[in-house]
Amino acid sequence: MKIAVIGAGPVGTALAEGWRAAGHEVILGSRSPEQADTQLKAAALGCAVMTIAEAAAAGDVIALTVPWGAVAETANSLGALHGKVLLDCTNPVTVANGRLGIDQPDGVSGGERVAALIPTARVVKAMNQVGFEMMHRARDLPVPPVMFVAGDDDAARAVALRLVGDLGFEGLDAGGIVQARHLEHFAMVWINQALVRGLGRAWAFAAVRAAGGQP
Ligand SMILES: NC(=O)c1ccc[n+]([C@@H]2O[C@H](COP(=O)([O-])OP(=O)(O)OC[C@H]3O[C@@H](n4cnc5c(N)ncnc54)[C@H](OP(=O)(O)O)[C@@H]3O)[C@@H](O)[C@H]2O)c1
Repeated sequence: MKIAVIGAGPVGTALAEGWRAAGHEVILGSRSPEQADTQLKAAALGCAVMTIAEAAAAGDVIALTVPWGAVAETANSLGALHGKVLLDCTNPVTVANGRLGIDQPDGVSGGERVAALIPTARVVKAMNQVGFEMMHRARDLPVPPVMFVAGDDDAARAVALRLVGDLGFEGLDAGGIVQARHLEHFAMVWINQALVRGLGRAWAFAAVRAAGGQP
């Protein structure tokens, strides 16, 4: 598959590394594709690097990996996506009065906002529930970590499940994009443990089942 990763930051480059290792072609979409450090990053990953619009046009699937505050501006740069699958990996994180929270006072999720901002894409929330360090190292963990995906289109969720599986995660289908409300708060549980409670960043959630099915 040809995957356009929009945003060449820690999340974008970790996903690019993981998907390249799984045999996918990855194109980085950057605000500054011509800059030497961006070119070096792309070369090290074995990816092409293009403008955001060029990458989005070239990819079969788009992964959105920009800061929440840049989502609206980035959405405008993507161009028409003609029903392509867009994985929304962002989290609308905010810190107010020293407290970590979700920057969505009305309770609507970032994933739903991304779907509204980019109506030409089939948006699936995914890869927002773990730190970037584990995104390309899931197979180093003793059991496959879990990654929930949420989106309104069944076929798009199937594509997302395949792509998170290619990174070594157990993909679980969370249902429609409205479920992103829970998945973004779930990400806050990870962030709180990792950054506030001292667990560190080298871990992920896993779904562990009782032997033999139902207990
Ligand atoms: N960090 C994590 O562990 C983690 C885990 C899960 C989810 N997330 C979410 O994933 C997204 C990306 O995280 P990240 O840590 O990779 O973010 P980041 O380092 O803050 O930014 C990622 C990239 O976005 C691009 N970008 C586009 N518009 C931008 C703007 N106005 N200001 C700054 N950068 C801009 C930049 O790439 P170019 O310069 O190439 O355009 C930048 O390198 C965020 O929404 C975050 O909440 C992060």
